[in-house]
Amino acid sequence: MSDNNATLTVGGATKDYAVMDGSVGPQVIDVRKLYANTGMFTYDPGFTSTASCESGLTYIDGDEGVLLHRGYPIGQLAEESSFMEVCYLLLNGELPSKTELDDFITTITRHTMVHEQLTTFYRGFRRDAHPMAIMCGVVGALSAFYHDSTDINDPVQRKIASHRLIAKMPTIAAMAYKYSVGQPFVYPRNDLSYTANFLRMTFSVPAEEYIPDPVIVDAMDKIFILHADHEQNASTSTVRLAGSSGANPFACIAAGIACLWGPAHGGANEAALNMLREIGTVDKIPEYIARAKNKDDPFRLMGFGHRVYKNYDPRATVMQKTAKDVLEKLGVNDPVFDVAKELEQIALNDPYFIEKKLYPNVDFYSGVILSAIGFPTEMFTVLFALARTVGWVAQWNEMISDPAQKIGRPRQLYTGPTQRDYVPVEKR
Ligand code: ACO
Repeated sequence: MSDNNATLTVGGATKDYAVMDGSVGPQVIDVRKLYANTGMFTYDPGFTSTASCESGLTYIDGDEGVLLHRGYPIGQLAEESSFMEVCYLLLNGELPSKTELDDFITTITRHTMVHEQLTTFYRGFRRDAHPMAIMCGVVGALSAFYHDSTDINDPVQRKIASHRLIAKMPTIAAMAYKYSVGQPFVYPRNDLSYTANFLRMTFSVPAEEYIPDPVIVDAMDKIFILHADHEQNASTSTVRLAGSSGANPFACIAAGIACLWGPAHGGANEAALNMLREIGTVDKIPEYIARAKNKDDPFRLMGFGHRVYKNYDPRATVMQKTAKDVLEKLGVNDPVFDVAKELEQIALNDPYFIEKKLYPNVDFYSGVILSAIGFPTEMFTVLFALARTVGWVAQWNEMISDPAQKIGRPRQLYTGPTQRDYVPVEKR
């Protein structure tokens, strides 16, 4: 709590509201008593000025382009850590010792198989179903298979559910892909790392052995780290809101997946690559820049702009370098990478983008990498969901352990009809 109070005068009555300090970042005004004191609500569509919770997981300074997970800069984690270590960090608050990390990896590895009956779910979907539709359905259905980890008031069950979700998500995601291309599901293999195992379940076929390329494994692991958590974004807030009613963890994560699917959120990497392909060649860029600036044209530069970052998204920096490494290693000469780099340069020097502080976000380059690795565009958001699962479960656990937690229930500014009497149909 800060020494300062915020003073608000409404209708001649003045009241003080406590100002709360975080460890870093903006202070917040505690308005919990506002309605009781004034009979008024705050109006904040999109929650642009509202802190919905207290959290110790992720910190973003959007003006400076800083992203910290439990205090560690995302660039350091992406370059020096591993996705499994970042998962442990997010869930437990501290980096693990060697033994703790080994134990954690063993636990996650031992949970990668899914109930065999779950495979029948896939067959209920049309072959051309979007894999995110499959993910929403199958992840929600996990609660029907793992009853022993749905009591949210038991910390042990919460931990098991968290481990299950992190461990099974690659298996479920790879199965969604396999189903869409008509290939047999591939079982996990415990001698492989989390990321290598996922690549194998996705790209191997029973007819021949698949040896994951270390450069691709490393790139994929980095992509997972870059997407692991991101403060109170739309899908995370959805998970928290769903969880605030006491819903089981699998249902909450399915809700998060549904929210992530939208093109303004996780669907942007798919949309960004589609846009780059549509632009096709560097000479077409000015036409698209003009469209993005035209108020009468709904077109936006996908992969550009962010609700919080008003500077370069620090994840985009790592992503651009990773894209270069992967394309070089695979010997892919994809013109979309040239289009992306040129588009970035032109936009960064254009007064419209400078004034509105629009910079490339994490999705701008990720599609280029994922496409080079061999993922179809429909899988991009699935990979995001896979990586974000740890953030979702860590935030969900934090919420449930928070004594200030209440069921999420925003209020509204009502502008509909005032009370009126029902008129029978024959008199209307
Ligand atoms: N291209 C062109 N203009 C843009 C773009 C863009 N990508 N993004 C924002 N603007 C403009 C808007 O037209 C608006 O202009 P105005 O003030 O003249 O009306 C201004 O910048 C502010 O835009 P808002 O939509 O109000 O900003 P908000 O913070 O609500 O939106 C968002 C953020 C949704 C990410 C937006 O920048 C966008 O649509 N970007 C493209 C989609 C995208 O890349 N999403 C991924 C986000 S990252 C993630 O989810 C992992």
